[in-house]
Amino acid sequence: MTNLRYQFKIMKITSFDQYKQVYKHSVEQPEEFWAGIAETFQWKKKWDKVLEWNFKEPNVKWFQGGKLNITESCLDRHLEKDGDRAAIIWEPNDPKDEHRVLTYKQLHEKVCQFANVLKNNGAKKGDRICIYMPMVPELAIAVLACARIGAIHSVVFGGFSAQSIADRIQDASCNIVITADGSFRGNKEVPLKSIIDDALVQCPTVERTIVLTRTRTPVAMIKGRDVWWEDEIKKVETQGNPSCPAEEMDAEDMLFILYTSGSTGKPKGVVHTCGGYMVYTGYTFKTAFQYEPGEVYFCTADIGWITGHSYIAYGPLTQGATSVMFEGIPTYPSPGRLWEIVEKFKVNILYTAPTAIRSLMSFGDDVVKNKDLSSLTKLGSVGEPINEEAWHWFDEKIGHGNCPIIDTWWQTETGGFMISPIANVTPLKPSFATLPLPGVQPILVDEYGKEIEGNGVNGNLCIKFPWPGMLRTTYGDHERCRTTYFSAYENLYFTGDGCMRDENGYYRITGRVDDVLNVSGHRIGTAEVENAINMHSSVVESAVVGYPHDIKGQGVYAFVVCPNKHEDDELTRKDIVMTVARIIGAIAKPDKIQFVSGLPKTRSGKIMRRILRKVAEGDTSNLGDTSTLLDPAVVDEIKTGAL
Ligand code: WTA
Repeated sequence: MTNLRYQFKIMKITSFDQYKQVYKHSVEQPEEFWAGIAETFQWKKKWDKVLEWNFKEPNVKWFQGGKLNITESCLDRHLEKDGDRAAIIWEPNDPKDEHRVLTYKQLHEKVCQFANVLKNNGAKKGDRICIYMPMVPELAIAVLACARIGAIHSVVFGGFSAQSIADRIQDASCNIVITADGSFRGNKEVPLKSIIDDALVQCPTVERTIVLTRTRTPVAMIKGRDVWWEDEIKKVETQGNPSCPAEEMDAEDMLFILYTSGSTGKPKGVVHTCGGYMVYTGYTFKTAFQYEPGEVYFCTADIGWITGHSYIAYGPLTQGATSVMFEGIPTYPSPGRLWEIVEKFKVNILYTAPTAIRSLMSFGDDVVKNKDLSSLTKLGSVGEPINEEAWHWFDEKIGHGNCPIIDTWWQTETGGFMISPIANVTPLKPSFATLPLPGVQPILVDEYGKEIEGNGVNGNLCIKFPWPGMLRTTYGDHERCRTTYFSAYENLYFTGDGCMRDENGYYRITGRVDDVLNVSGHRIGTAEVENAINMHSSVVESAVVGYPHDIKGQGVYAFVVCPNKHEDDELTRKDIVMTVARIIGAIAKPDKIQFVSGLPKTRSGKIMRRILRKVAEGDTSNLGDTSTLLDPAVVDEIKTGAL
């Protein structure tokens, strides 16, 4: 086994030369490299084999034979030395309310307590549990409690509709739902339990819902099915056993399912497993941010997305970090809120999204001027390409030119950061995610899957060697995992992203090359939105494309064929928007709806999206070759009606 000095060296990288050495080693001896990293986590039993893989099936197994429970690396191992250190500092939606601090000891206790609640309510290892909750500490507690007993969590973001929740619950046959009466988001209240009630009409597998009190809006509590979180906690308190042994898990046992959008059909359940995910999220968090114990770290994501899973719930806790968790939104009650939180908790590392940065920029510099941001030492960005203007504003106005911007490129499927600078090590270049982290082997290919070598090139971004945090399957449908990610190019994982590599070998992600939109950093499949629009009773068909949006990055532009619409177009538009909100959720609402009499199709019936994208972008001067269209006249009408 690897020695301690070596482990220290690979976790703490102090110079660019050292990064290059470590990277070289990680590619030449990947198994030795990852075994060295894995040693720095807590295992019940070490693995027998580091890696077995092929990208054909695909079949990827890391740390086979290893036994662990991820919550022991997140919680138990810190108790003795650092039990009184803050694990989570929670800031409520309303700044007038009290913030809460949970030390590692307290978090451990609460996770054990709620794990016992889950057991009392019939939860067992391997069960699927759906979590639909506000950003309160109990969300993190629920996630970790599932992991504690070996149940597989499936967290659904609070902005999804009842229908989307029902689809996800059905797909994974969940038997328990954990939710809250409601959630506070800015000046809005979302009736979470009531949405769950609507979803459960379609979900016979659910036997129990556990409901946390947050907004105390009236809720329907159904006898035999619904119980209050607080009552259940009282029960375990009177049972008098506060501890809960951590279930022994196989390294390749499922840890969680997280649904994400692709270019076809319904969202798929990306599956992550216990051992590799733990090692990968912990390692990448420590490495990219060069996190040092004591630093206060603030990730503004929601635990409903992968960023919250990997870099609020799991990665930072494995490293004994102190995290700020925020319930509200950056603009409530005023656009200075994020900066006030930084000031209040003396945040050192701020990790946020370009869409948030652009939105806050739009309020002007005065909002930032009188805030004390001097505690900040490192900044991070995630979710979408960061444009240069936003990069420089973040750098100058927030980082005062002193904080490296860690632009982390990764995906739900990759589990953790893939291409990212290392803080204070990698020379930065605005709008570039820079270089692969150790252990990550990106390659660019052309449309035929041929590697594009050399620098100063563009191509489709693929990964040619497994990494511990990668997805293992899509829940209940392994073939879908193969066709989506491993069939476009032989023996490669295809990311769906386009990418350029500059003269120095630096990577810049240029955006999705498939039919996936990135709206405010949220992934939305155009096919999904089209299906939802087509559910509207007077819609015949539709086509959805993205267009550049100043704040959101991309907006949703829908071309809709709707011959029997109401005489007031605006009314029909509102109905369509409402239909999408009902079917998917508010996050997928179209920004623009253009009514058309037909869509531009080829003779074989394929919609020519290229033309629609140009129209949506407002660039109708050169639509390219339209000669293969069935009815070229349709294009003139679409051009004239562009919004
Ligand atoms: C995009 C979010 C450019 C990309 C962690 C990817 C980015 C998709 C970046 C995954 C970045 C994420 N620069 N683009 N730093 N980070 N993306 O699954 O298109 O919600 O494929 O994971 O977001 O979105 P997901």
